Amino acid sequence: MHVTILTLFPNVFPGSLGVSLIGKALEEGVFTLDIVDLKKFSIKGGRVDGPPCGGGCGMLLSPEVLEAALASLPSPISSGERKFIYPSPRGELLSQKIAYNLSKLQDIVILCGRYEGIDARILEKYSFVEMSVGDYVLMGGEVAAMALIEASVRLIPGVVGAPDSLREDSFVVSSAPLLEYPQYTHPVQWNEYSVPPVLLSGHHEAIHQWRLAEARTITRTQRPDLWNQYVARALGE
Ligand code: ADE
Repeated sequence: MHVTILTLFPNVFPGSLGVSLIGKALEEGVFTLDIVDLKKFSIKGGRVDGPPCGGGCGMLLSPEVLEAALASLPSPISSGERKFIYPSPRGELLSQKIAYNLSKLQDIVILCGRYEGIDARILEKYSFVEMSVGDYVLMGGEVAAMALIEASVRLIPGVVGAPDSLREDSFVVSSAPLLEYPQYTHPVQWNEYSVPPVLLSGHHEAIHQWRLAEARTITRTQRPDLWNQYVARALGE
């Protein structure tokens, strides 16, 4: 997967994408990260932005700057489609399913907005897909871009060592979306807290049933919306 990020703050990257298993995947070329500094494409006395037409607060990234930055990109390395993503609270909410679909792509361009946003004509011209990481507003697209990439790259086969750990994830794509059950390690007794005895029983079916019950309880209490989906699926609706 080849990822290009256009940003006013190139120093933010690779950030958390450069550490641990995802950092190893980056080092090994499982995915590549090209960071394009939008300031290099500034116009008229170093400007990258302008005030919104019709009035309003804040500034918008200029279409001329963004166009010049996009025109500077090398042509797609593969014959596959190049996907243009604009992280924005207006977009479709990132989900495990979307991350899985992104993990199959070979060429992704992410444009990080700042200030009040960007000129809408760029989104139209390049068919940007807007994507949100949650119903709240960040200062810009960089943190959202990182979340998008991390969620997708970890689903590329081989990035996470044990495929089993993906299967046990909260939100696994292939089954009903239950949140993950609690996990424990040694010591078995820690302060006044002990590991649930069933996990030490060696009885695989009992452990499986305990984990399923925990996952159900956590989903029901913490995410009633997911629980309702789970129940509906179980009832075959
Ligand atoms: N930029 C600002 N807020 C955002 C959000 N919630 N998701 C994606 N990009 C954003």
